Amino acid sequence: MPKSAPQLTIRAPAKLNLTLEVLGRRPDGYHELHTIFQAVTLYDVLEVLPAAEIELVVEGEAPHGEGNLVLKAARTVARYAPARGARLHLQKRIPTGAGLGGGSSDAAAALILLNRHWETGLVRRELAELARSLGADVPFFLWGGVALGTGRGDEIRPLELYGDEGDSDAGPPLHFVLSTPPFELPDKTAQIFQRVREEDYSDGSVTRALLRRLAAGERLRQEDLHNALLGSACAAFEPLAEYLETLQDLSGRRWTLSGAGPTCFTLAATQDDAIRIASQVSALPGRRFVCHAAPHLALAHPELLPLPSPA
Ligand code: C5P
Repeated sequence: MPKSAPQLTIRAPAKLNLTLEVLGRRPDGYHELHTIFQAVTLYDVLEVLPAAEIELVVEGEAPHGEGNLVLKAARTVARYAPARGARLHLQKRIPTGAGLGGGSSDAAAALILLNRHWETGLVRRELAELARSLGADVPFFLWGGVALGTGRGDEIRPLELYGDEGDSDAGPPLHFVLSTPPFELPDKTAQIFQRVREEDYSDGSVTRALLRRLAAGERLRQEDLHNALLGSACAAFEPLAEYLETLQDLSGRRWTLSGAGPTCFTLAATQDDAIRIASQVSALPGRRFVCHAAPHLALAHPELLPLPSPA
């Protein structure tokens, strides 16, 4: 079968956290979260081709070997498809270790693609279990679009809040400007969660209030964005507080942090507005991206994951 199997390609989106509340520390060492994930139109591209062994070719900046979560995902699905190979080709555009979930998105893309390529027949609930074992952010990317994450951030409820790209009734999509500073921190996510203090905890009400407003048809506002990891991230990435202040001074907008950072983002009214903001802050070190809300994966790739309802 694999020799004649079609070449399959998937676009793996980045995510932002519109809210990220930490409710407390769990007995397993993880933190209990309430977060609204939003997939955005900044994509890696993953392609699978027939091969005798599992191989990964990376174009761009990401781990090339076993350190890449794509290989771990492939070996996880291979447990259900013994003696199958695949050549995975990853075009990396999402900065790594940036708070944008790029590695997690690539891993979810690999689960979906290989499930199809090898005809393993795992349903989304089973894929979600495998995704969870790869990392707390991975299950969201089996859905994409906009979703509520609870538990470790790995219990996903997809949301239909403001329509998807191309849905003309739902109004214009949300536009964002991202600025990713060149700050690095080994074992970043664990480091930053370790620094969270009790005063950073909240009870999920910020997220619930925003969900209610969005469900009532109100538009997302910059002041709705919230990230409980901001203080810890500023302490861990020393120049981050100053970076955020400069972004704010140059653009006259409030910016916030995505995930454990260091990517900062702000909302824009239109694509032109987003391009203007990106140019206002272009002198800062790092990379800028202008993007908008990305559709749910079942809409973006109905041929790969045609499952309409939550698992
Ligand atoms: O699941 P993942 O490997 O992405 O998480 C990396 C680290 O981040 C975990 O080992 C844990 O220390 C921390 N984390 C946490 N609470 C979460 C998610 C991650 O404490 N909900």
